[in-house]
Formats: sequence, C-alpha cells, structure tokens
Amino acid sequence: MSEVLTTPAVLILLGPPGAGKGTQARMLEERFGLIQLSTGDLLRAAVAEGSPAGLAAKAVMETGGLVSDEIVLAILKDRMAKPDVQAGVILDGFPRTAGQAAALDGLLAESGQDVTAAISLEVDDEAMIDRVAGRFTCAHCGEGYHDTHKKTAKAGTCDKCGGTEFKRRADDNAETARERLRAYHAETAPLIAHYDKLGVLRTVDAMGSIAGVAKALRTIVKSATE
Ligand code: AP5
Repeated sequence: MSEVLTTPAVLILLGPPGAGKGTQARMLEERFGLIQLSTGDLLRAAVAEGSPAGLAAKAVMETGGLVSDEIVLAILKDRMAKPDVQAGVILDGFPRTAGQAAALDGLLAESGQDVTAAISLEVDDEAMIDRVAGRFTCAHCGEGYHDTHKKTAKAGTCDKCGGTEFKRRADDNAETARERLRAYHAETAPLIAHYDKLGVLRTVDAMGSIAGVAKALRTIVKSATE
C-alpha cells in the first residue's frame, strides 16, 4: 500500500551497522514513494564501476573505517541532483560526520529545504554483530534477508523478485563490524545532539521486530510531515 505525503520530506536514518537503516528505508520508500539514498550502496556501486573514487573507497570500506567526506559528498551531491528526489528522500547512512552534516544543512538551505526528521535507531552493540554477520541480499533486486531474523519464505528464492542468487557483503564479518561500530560511536553518534538542537530528532527502539520498528517509523513520518 502506498500513501502520499502532503509535503516533500527529507528523512535521515541514524544508527550503527545492523540497526536496520537499509531494511526500514526500503519499507518507507515503498510506503510513501520516497527515494532511499544509501551512501553505502552508492559507494559499493562506485567500487563495482572501478572509478578512482570507488578504488579509494574500497580500501577504506574493507577496514570498516569511514570514507573521506570529499568522496562521499561528491557522490551524494550527484545523486541529489537527479529529478526523482523531488518527492522526498530517506538518507540511509548519511550524514556520518560533523562535516557531512554541515554540508547537508548547506545543500538543503540552497533549495529552501530543511531536515524533516532525523530518526535515531537505538540498538545494543552486541546484537548488531549478529545482525550484520547473518545478513544476505538478493543478487538481483537487492532485497535484504537474515539467516535467522528474516529468512526467505521459500528457501533459496527471493520473496520479492523470485531471484535465486544471493550475496554477502565483504565487510560483514565480526572484526570489520566491530570497527564500523567504533567509527559510528566516534564520528556519527555525536550527530544525534546536532539534530536534537535543530528540533528534528526522533528516537526509535530498534531492538523490536522489523514490523514493529516499521510501524513506529510510519507514525513518526506522518506526524513530521503533517
Ligand atoms: P553501509 O552500507 O551504510 O553500512 P552500515 O552503516 O554499516 O549499515 P549496514 O548496512 O551494515 O546496516 P543497516 O543499518 O542498513 O542494517 P540492515 O537494514 O541491513 O556502509 C558501509 C561502509 O561504507 C561503511 O563502513 C563506510 O566505510 C562506508 N560509508 C557509507 N556511508 C558513508 C558515509 N556517509 N561516510 C563515510 N563512509 C561511508 O539490517 C542488518 C540485518 O539485520 C539484515 O539482515 C536485516 O534483515 C536484519 N534486521 C534489520 N532489522 C531487524 C530487526 N528489527 N530485528 C531483527 N533483525 C533485523
């Protein structure tokens, strides 16, 4: 079912690796016709293309560190310039540093927009290692699954597109996931205070079921866009 929002929204999903940003962003995209902009996905596409930015990003992503603001902002600005983002966006995994947050504020100000809501998905660190290590996605449509928390209805077949090939991310191992968590706490968690100051921060307990978290997010999105 899709619903039309009365105002274009700029939603930010904050949260550590495995918090459910991608899972929830895709559900919000389907529900409200918003566009999911995942800097992780954009960077993985650049890596796959083998562009100079992609090659530089690859080395950093493999260690679980953060790619430079310069590369991330160039990739994001390119994507934000495409016309399909007019109805609104869900920023999944961006911003991740104070520099990225300031650049986003500037970019939105240029087009007379504001952040509609920055939603922090609150989770336990240890559970995140399990979520990340058990994750896999459909190689055809990108739908995300988990070995125990979100299996395909029919083993080996994607629920969404019927694809039969799946893939796992190179950085989804316990060691790299711990480094990604460290980077989150050092660089990204401080942004929660930034958005609180701007009056747009919302928090969601993201330890519940995927459906329960989705319901809480829908309520927030509707109230923030009324
Ligand atoms: P990115 O791709 O953004 O990875 P991440 O932030 O580490 O987040 P994840 O994709 O791991 O987790 P998620 O929150 O989306 O969880 P998901 O929904 O998949 O970034 C990768 C790398 O790119 C970074 O390390 C960095 O190097 C670089 N990068 C990206 N953006 C950058 C930026 N802005 N600046 C600098 N560098 C950047 O869920 C995980 C699993 O759990 C799934 O299997 C899912 O089915 C399951 N699950 C989800 N919700 C629940 C639930 N409620 N209960 C049980 N299971 C659940």
